[in-house]
Amino acid sequence: MSVARGANLSFTRQTLAAWMGQAGTAVLRLLPAEMAHDVGMLLLERGLLDVLPAPYVEPLTAGLQVTLPGIGTLPHPLALAAGFDKNARAPRGFARMGFAMLEIGTVTPQPQPGNPKPRLFRQPGTRALINRMGFNSDGAAAVATRLAAHKWRFDQVPLGINCGKNKLTPQDRAASDYLQVMEAFKDLASYFVVNISSPNTPGLRELASPAFIHELADGIGAGLPKVWVKLDPDMARRDFQELVEVIAKRGFQGIIVSNTHRVTYPEVGGQSGHPLAAQATACLEWAHAVHQGDLPMIASGGVLTGADVYQKLIRGALAVQVYTALVYEGPWVIAKLLTELAAELRLRGVHHVQDVIGRYYQDG
Ligand SMILES: Cc1cc2nc3c(=O)[nH]c(=O)nc-3n(C[C@H](O)[C@H](O)[C@H](O)COP(=O)(O)O)c2cc1C
Repeated sequence: MSVARGANLSFTRQTLAAWMGQAGTAVLRLLPAEMAHDVGMLLLERGLLDVLPAPYVEPLTAGLQVTLPGIGTLPHPLALAAGFDKNARAPRGFARMGFAMLEIGTVTPQPQPGNPKPRLFRQPGTRALINRMGFNSDGAAAVATRLAAHKWRFDQVPLGINCGKNKLTPQDRAASDYLQVMEAFKDLASYFVVNISSPNTPGLRELASPAFIHELADGIGAGLPKVWVKLDPDMARRDFQELVEVIAKRGFQGIIVSNTHRVTYPEVGGQSGHPLAAQATACLEWAHAVHQGDLPMIASGGVLTGADVYQKLIRGALAVQVYTALVYEGPWVIAKLLTELAAELRLRGVHHVQDVIGRYYQDG
């Protein structure tokens, strides 16, 4: 009796808190997009979720455990995509929301301001965003100091560092920028990501070439099993697949598929959210055709529902990152996606998420 009453009370508190989370997100959406992001980050940094009941995600994770080579076992496959917390300001807040893994960055070696504002735009009709942030970063030294102060429990919530190059670094010295960021975080990251796929740094996507992958691999050497490469969805299929082949051959741990796709209307920048979903999912298939399941993949791009998560997993993703869904759904997004994912699995009589990973490619 008392257990049931306790459960009811906690259900009511959770429902109320979820409602407050949604209301708060709706209020934030009245502000210009980047200002809303800044306010949200400030609240998280100041421990907003410490005073409100945090989403109670644990009971939603039965059967959802996944293992990522080189990183570890996560209670469920949902992770924070790069770009939301570029400067490691609020990792604790994101962990309290229920994210099983976080990606900080993109971090550049030196601080830089990014592009002039406005540079972030909502497209609510299609649940999308367009951004041309241009790697606004506090720089590797400042971000590493801030992260060290968090005394992060990497075994509880793995945390990766997404690495980029400074805008003013010439292309022929780009590899050294990535290596500098990795060096700055060598004791502060569960994994690294080489970002050669953001559309808003001039020349960055030109680095998505076999020659650059070889140069980087030579520079990283023994550290390669800790490094993932994030790819762009706008490449021609042949170029994309050639790159995946080289990444696998050189011994990188895996790939993140994909970054935003480049658009020029109604704003110039990278588009994320629902309109990206099909294209990013197709890239998982392109990659799988090359490595046949031998190269670990993390999915990113247009995940707004549990059905979207499911589609990424069956195409071979071991984990799934979200960004735009958090903007539209607010702090309860992980609880929502996990509930919906569990329903997708139930619908198919599956008890464990591991059993669906890569299923799309299996006969029968
Ligand atoms: C405002 C904004 C900033 C981003 N910044 C970065 C970044 O710094 N580095 C990166 O690799 N990806 C960045 N991304 C891309 C996301 O990590 C993610 O790959 C992309 O948004 C697709 O996922 P989504 O559809 O769930 O948003 C950014 C995306 C947005 C919307």
